[in-house]
Amino acid sequence: MKTVRASLNLRKINKGEKKGIVRAKMTAEITLHELASFCTRLGFFYPSGRIYGGLSGFYDYGPLGAELRRGVLNDWWWYFVERRDDIIGIHGSIITHPRTWVASGHVDSFIDFIVTCPKCGFEYRADHLLEDRGIQIPELTLETLSKLIKKHNVKCPKCGGTLSDPSPFNLMFITYVGPKKVDASIAYLRPETAQLIFTNFRNIIMTIGVKLPFGIAQYGKAFRNEISPRGFLFRLREFEQMEIEFFVNPKKLDDCPYYNKVKSMEINLLSAEMQDKGEKEGKIVTIEDAVDNGLIGCKWHAYWIAESLQWLKNIGVDYNRLRVREHIKTELAHYAVQTFDVEFLFPQAGWKEIEGISNRSDYDLKRHEEFSREEMHVYDDGEKIIPYVIEPSFGLERVILAVLISSYREIKGRRVLSLHPKVAPIKVGVFPLVSKSEFLEKAREVYLSLKEEFRTIYEAKDSIGRRYAKADERGVPICVTIDGQTLEDDTVTIRFRDTREQIRVSISALKEEINKVFKNWHNYTSS
Ligand code: GAP
Repeated sequence: MKTVRASLNLRKINKGEKKGIVRAKMTAEITLHELASFCTRLGFFYPSGRIYGGLSGFYDYGPLGAELRRGVLNDWWWYFVERRDDIIGIHGSIITHPRTWVASGHVDSFIDFIVTCPKCGFEYRADHLLEDRGIQIPELTLETLSKLIKKHNVKCPKCGGTLSDPSPFNLMFITYVGPKKVDASIAYLRPETAQLIFTNFRNIIMTIGVKLPFGIAQYGKAFRNEISPRGFLFRLREFEQMEIEFFVNPKKLDDCPYYNKVKSMEINLLSAEMQDKGEKEGKIVTIEDAVDNGLIGCKWHAYWIAESLQWLKNIGVDYNRLRVREHIKTELAHYAVQTFDVEFLFPQAGWKEIEGISNRSDYDLKRHEEFSREEMHVYDDGEKIIPYVIEPSFGLERVILAVLISSYREIKGRRVLSLHPKVAPIKVGVFPLVSKSEFLEKAREVYLSLKEEFRTIYEAKDSIGRRYAKADERGVPICVTIDGQTLEDDTVTIRFRDTREQIRVSISALKEEINKVFKNWHNYTSS
């Protein structure tokens, strides 16, 4: 367990906090298992259907989780859609026309390999069984998996039984549209949001009149019947994606007007070439180095890698726990020219994907053109073309895990979630110092006024120290306290969660001050 020592200079005003300089011990690691029970206890997430024994791979968001989810989604939408003028958003349906998935290749090739134990009936994902034993898989094919299971004599982890040969298992959830449960009425719950963007491409071109380069964004539910969901929110059967398809003229993949803004950004990169040489650790390089040395195929792709990392950093993901890993040849999806995973360093599990950023070429649009007979071209410089697409694809729950793990601290036995105010479920806590009627009245007044602008809670029970500790655990960035002086001069204290410092502010300037603090949050946090 990594231990970080930090000195916090505390200026105390209210009863309940000790005076002086405190040496704070911050334990920076929490296991996924501990995080799951911490989050359940606080009301972030609950295993779905828990009263009936739970349903593996499904989680419900509790009150704090629902707000955290909204915070991350809203900031993603703001950062990638609202603040730009070259990306527009759509919101597609979840149950989709079955031809969509034939054209996209999912009906034929969206598979994992399953092995079963004839003795106890348990089912496993073949590659996970091998990975869990540290066995390298050079190629995800039935033959390779079968050979490796035999060679390493892998048995059923549950009962030691001999496992079946691997067989392909399609991950798409099926449903029936209409009253007849026959093959002709089969439809699929979308396994990715991306295809809805491709199937709406023609609608956008015809109705909105966009010009290349431009992007279409969408967030929403995706469904995959994972063989072995695991890792708390990491591998779910129902989850949410935040995806952009950014369309570019294939002859202009290096004409990115924003490239100069990001080229000096440093990233931790593990290229396919490095992996082929057996290297396991990434190297710190600039975006420009990576492009100039041919590691990232084009400037638009490099730009979207940089923007993704910047957004993750903005919402509080620890940049030192992020790396960019290129897919090696044998793991590239059928549609991809080049793919990078943004990976987060998870406690115990190590580096795992939280976002995929692919150059999907013109594969999808061409396939939908072929299957639908609708033209998918656009005109650029008078030329009729089918654009290439760069796809930054985030999984919401994995981003949330990265945010929570990056924010979790233990300071002198207290748990603190140092969430950025952008995503914190509760932005402000309002507390009367003591429960005398004049304090309560004033505090309610301040609470009702702040509530109009910020998600605010009011609490009067327990000692002020306890209330601060509870707010810290729930990730509330600031607390406003009504004390004796408030009644004399209409001022309150603002207490900052991460430094535990306090300032005094007049109530008339409170909203303005809070907005200023949230805008310049880096000045008020030690994380
Ligand atoms: N449209 C491209 C696409 O769907 P992907 O790598 O399969 O690519 C994108 O998925 C992201 O969706 C992943 O980086 C991950 O964050 C998230 N994701 C995929 N499967 C998931 C699952 N079973 N549970 C939770 N998140 C998942």
